[in-house]
Formats: sequence, C-alpha cells, structure tokens
Amino acid sequence: MTGYAPDIYNCNVVELTKIHNRAGNITIVQNGDTQPFDIRRVYYLYDVPGGSERGGHAHKALRQMIVAASGAFEVILDDGVNRKIVQLNRPYYGLLIVPGIWREIVNFSSGAICLVLASEKYDANDYIRDYDVFKQMKSIANAGRG
Ligand code: TYD
Repeated sequence: MTGYAPDIYNCNVVELTKIHNRAGNITIVQNGDTQPFDIRRVYYLYDVPGGSERGGHAHKALRQMIVAASGAFEVILDDGVNRKIVQLNRPYYGLLIVPGIWREIVNFSSGAICLVLASEKYDANDYIRDYDVFKQMKSIANAGRG
C-alpha cells in the first residue's frame, strides 16, 4: 500500500532559478537539481477554455511537478482528509506532487499553459480516476499507518 499514505503537506511549491535578462528570462529544470525525481515525460495542457477545469485523478506511483509556463490556474490537492488550493501564476514556481494525491486543475486563465514534468512514462494503470475508489484506498492506507 505504499504510495497512498502521503498527504497534501508532502506537496510543496519550489522556486526555480530565474535568469533575468533584458531580452527575457530563462528558467531551468534539471534532473538531480530542481525536483526529487528524474523526468521521463513532459506534457502540457494548452488551449484550455478560460475558467474550465480538468485532471480529476490520482496516481499510484507517478511524481510530478506542475508549472504555469504561461498564464495562471489553480491546483486543488486532496489527500482524502485535507484539501488545499495552490495558485500557480509564475513560470518560475513548480508545484511538486507526490503519489496518492487527488488533483484537479481549475480556473485556467485564457491562454494558460500547464506544463507537467512527470517521473514516469504514460501508463493508464497508474491512474485512479474514481474519487470513491481513491477515498477507499486512502482510508485503508491511513488505517495501516496508524
Ligand atoms: P487525461 O490524463 O485523462 O487528462 P485529464 O485528466 O487532464 O483530463 O488525458 C486525456 C487523454 O490523453 C487520455 O485519453 C489519455 C491521453 N494521454 C496520453 O496518451 N498520454 C499522456 O501522457 C497523457 C497525459 C494523456
């Protein structure tokens, strides 16, 4: 049952290096440096209609870092007991999410780009897409932990 016990307090925003230049800024994400896992996959959400939401699911093993590469949105994190909402609106902040957290992304500004840096390649079996199933797994894991 490892992978289900972590809670939302294991998910934090990290500030990434920003190299400022009058011709624009550069932010770097690098294995062994910025995030506590190696990146095996990058995907990004774009052309999301303003105000809409997506991504209600949890992962069994995948770790991820989410960056608002452009625009803004909110990430709702839920560990089955507690919830928190993290607003991302700068390209030099990354939200680290551990496995076993239900996450939804809401309130996209128009033109926002949600960049997801993931520790695993795509695997449909790593997803938990049913919130009731998620809650059940978390309560079993939390009972085993106590
Ligand atoms: P999904 O994860 O369901 O998006 P969201 O939960 O944000 O709505 O992904 C939508 C579709 O894209 C789904 O059919 C799976 C597919 N997909 C891939 O094939 N590879 C990927 O890396 C991702 C993220 C999604």
